[in-house]
Amino acid sequence: MRSQPAPEAPTTLLDELISDVCAGLAGPGQKRLPSRYLYDDLGTALFEAIGYLPEYGVTRADERILRCNAREIIQAMGPQPLTVAELGSGGGRKTRWLLEAMGTRRSISYYPIDISKAALERCALELGRLPVVRVEPIEADYRDGLSLIASRRRADERLLLLFLGSTIGNFEPPEAREFLREVRGRLRPGDGFLLGTDLVKPAATLIAAYDDALGVTAAFDLNLLRRLNRDLDAEFDLENFYHEARWNAEERRVEMHLVARMAHVVWIHAIGLGVTFRAGESIWTESSYKFDSDEPERISKVLPFTPAGQWLDREWPFAESLLIAR
Ligand code: AVJ
Repeated sequence: MRSQPAPEAPTTLLDELISDVCAGLAGPGQKRLPSRYLYDDLGTALFEAIGYLPEYGVTRADERILRCNAREIIQAMGPQPLTVAELGSGGGRKTRWLLEAMGTRRSISYYPIDISKAALERCALELGRLPVVRVEPIEADYRDGLSLIASRRRADERLLLLFLGSTIGNFEPPEAREFLREVRGRLRPGDGFLLGTDLVKPAATLIAAYDDALGVTAAFDLNLLRRLNRDLDAEFDLENFYHEARWNAEERRVEMHLVARMAHVVWIHAIGLGVTFRAGESIWTESSYKFDSDEPERISKVLPFTPAGQWLDREWPFAESLLIAR
């Protein structure tokens, strides 16, 4: 007899959204929502479009570095057979360069980990065509995904874990430290962690990257309110908010805010909550920290990693750094 499938995750996800919305919007202080809620299916598609904007160089720099240096990156991992896993794989476009460079006759397991089913499907489609690659999608958040990998990986292979696109920049620094500690805890000596970090650049460049002329990033940001309307039966009028990108030089982060044009109240029926906005008050929806190229060096001083290589893009300052677990 087949066992019943476990109860579906959506209830939990909805509960989480509700508690984050209550914590972030109900109080008198700065309103905040976690940036991961930007990525429903439409949000994921809009972020992909952002990667083609002339003002936003992050995605292209990331891919250029992998395309130009894939062989060297793989070589820095040593001669042992590799298993590849990726946190937040998205559509898998950048990763194909690395997988191709592995040019082995043995099959390679590639575990993309993402919370978006749509992204995983595109990833399997994009990379499943490579003859030697076995794509094993994992629909999970980073923490659960990491623990699944640790249990499923082949014992005789080294793991190369990818965390690209400067997604690390979305964590608050204490969260980032905790996250890196957890990652290291899941690795064995000799395993690699390839980390992409967007580097600090002039404020005007950064502001334009997060507030583009076409308004795609504004749509990406405002889509969060649409999502609340849909998932929580909320009554946000998108016309009453505008998108703003701010560079916080002291904290070295770009902040995205949704700013209320006038004082008003927005009802969120699923929680029975009325959210009060003053004119000019904002919901802070994302932080995108920027780094300098010494970041891996600093990480390896607090965690048992050895920096094993760094590759930079000159057109759009961005770093890909390989840390080997020791
Ligand atoms: C996917 C998190 C790297 O912070 O640059 C792009 C998301 N936000 N434009 C970033 C994003 C606005 C992006 N990351």
